[in-house]
Amino acid sequence: MDILSIDGLPNDEIAAILDTADLYFSGNRGRRGSERLHGRIVFNVFYENSTRTAMSFATAAHRLGASAIALSVERSSVAKGETLEDTARTLNAMRPDALVIRHRENHAPAVVAEIVEAPVLNAGDGTNEHPTQALLDAATIRRRLGRVEGLKIAICGDIRHSRVARSNAKLLPRLGAEVRLAGPPELLPPDVPQLSVAEAIAGADVVMMLRVQRERLEDDLGDAPGEYLARYGLTAERLATATPGAVIMHPGPMNRGVEIDGSIADDPERSLIALQVEMGVAVRMACLERVIDARN
Ligand code: CP
Repeated sequence: MDILSIDGLPNDEIAAILDTADLYFSGNRGRRGSERLHGRIVFNVFYENSTRTAMSFATAAHRLGASAIALSVERSSVAKGETLEDTARTLNAMRPDALVIRHRENHAPAVVAEIVEAPVLNAGDGTNEHPTQALLDAATIRRRLGRVEGLKIAICGDIRHSRVARSNAKLLPRLGAEVRLAGPPELLPPDVPQLSVAEAIAGADVVMMLRVQRERLEDDLGDAPGEYLARYGLTAERLATATPGAVIMHPGPMNRGVEIDGSIADDPERSLIALQVEMGVAVRMACLERVIDARN
């Protein structure tokens, strides 16, 4: 079993991952030191930068007793021109028990999964999907608010380039939430309702802000410092229109003072940003355990 996209995960598998992650998070399944994957080898192959996803997959593997081995892509034979397919064939010949991949090209993990016999987990591919991020977001919401069903969830920012938004827009409605996607008009795909950030946040139970991915923009937005925050970001004024108990999320990395006011990001009561990171380890433990168990 691979984890390449939300659409590729059946409902019972999503439920099992969320339940298992919750057990790991709460310490009821050996949060620190289970040896369920003792002796297993997990390859981490990141063609794009990462802090949260790379470190949490490695931490998850270690906590399950597996060895996490990272390929330093910039120092690898990729720099000598080796193709993705040849790299996949090479890594497959070393017989890992799972391979985690992040790549700048959409669907690169699916290409690798055709070659590698072990389970492949998509750690984010281009602007396509980031399925384990969506799973950890759902697990975080459920942990804090007790449910996902019936919640109004505003996802605001650079929707056009966001694999996090794409995966969440598929997963959260399957769990019963209403998802509202909003952002600057030039950062909204044409096939989603053109909602303003203010409209999306009004009455929302969860406000998830996204980074402007300037590295993927063809043209700069041309906004002056502070202008993006005032027009499209999460300010105290906009947050005041959400439900009184609304919580704040951000997949990271954040641009403080751009898509989110720094003091809101640090709000100890309402910000779930650190909880998302902590839950990320538990969700990736659940994912690794399930895909490796399913193979044996
Ligand atoms: N959320 C996320 O994917 O963060 P990283 O790029 O740091 O992994």
